[in-house]
Amino acid sequence: MDPLQEAARALERSSHTTAFTGAGISVESGIPPFRGKDGLWSRYDPIVLDISYFHAHPLEAWQVIREIFYDYFGKARPNAGHYALAEMEKRGKVAAVITQNIDNLHQEAGSRNVIEYHGNSQRLICPRCGAVWSPKEIDLQKLPPRCSHDGEVLKPDFVFFGEPIPLKAARRSEQEAFAADVFLVVGTTGEIMPASLIPQMAKSNGATIIEINPETSNYTHSITDIFLRGKAGELLPALLEKMTG
Ligand code: APR
Repeated sequence: MDPLQEAARALERSSHTTAFTGAGISVESGIPPFRGKDGLWSRYDPIVLDISYFHAHPLEAWQVIREIFYDYFGKARPNAGHYALAEMEKRGKVAAVITQNIDNLHQEAGSRNVIEYHGNSQRLICPRCGAVWSPKEIDLQKLPPRCSHDGEVLKPDFVFFGEPIPLKAARRSEQEAFAADVFLVVGTTGEIMPASLIPQMAKSNGATIIEINPETSNYTHSITDIFLRGKAGELLPALLEKMTG
């Protein structure tokens, strides 16, 4: 059977589908992935996202963080892949989206049950008093941005290197991985721990793994059952169209 057809049948029959997304789903929104030749880490030094560096050099870290995540990513809009996943959820065909992305694009596309495994750039948090701000209410021309309650340097509410995964997101992701009979992996290399373990949990519990990626990943030849080679913005809408109901 054609793999797209096979994937559509598996999704139709599934009683609990969980999606798991990485940087690849946002590439067609103009956000470059992290790894690979055009990846962010070929242009920027990932040290700016190291939590110790951030605390020691907030101005230098913020100059790069603003450029990447606010000046540049801030303008990105969801693409057809994000919308297709939101529509699958609306039709009761996807129970949850676990995302490694911090760009808020699933939420903007209308997905409701989004587990933010690495946090969200659209919140700034005060590490001292816990106040949460929208980047829209903060003047990012003045760096580093500070909490107007106590003057502490604000931190984007995403997970820096050296920080733990938010407990609630980790717990909910495990629950969703174990509940899934179909697990849809979209646009991730599967290189970053502990996120990369989540599809393995689903597989070990018997889920059918469907993967969408224009390239092979760590999962393709190990746990993937149905590999759909191509772009998320094309294949997710195609999958939705092939599904009945
Ligand atoms: N559609 C689907 N997948 C795509 C597309 C596309 N249009 N374009 C590229 N890809 C795939 C690439 O082939 C690659 O496998 O998306 C994947 C992107 O991989 P990474 O850049 O490694 O991103 P990701 O796996 O999400 O990284 C995980 O690493 O630096 C950390 O915290 C960061 O959450 C991130 C984590």
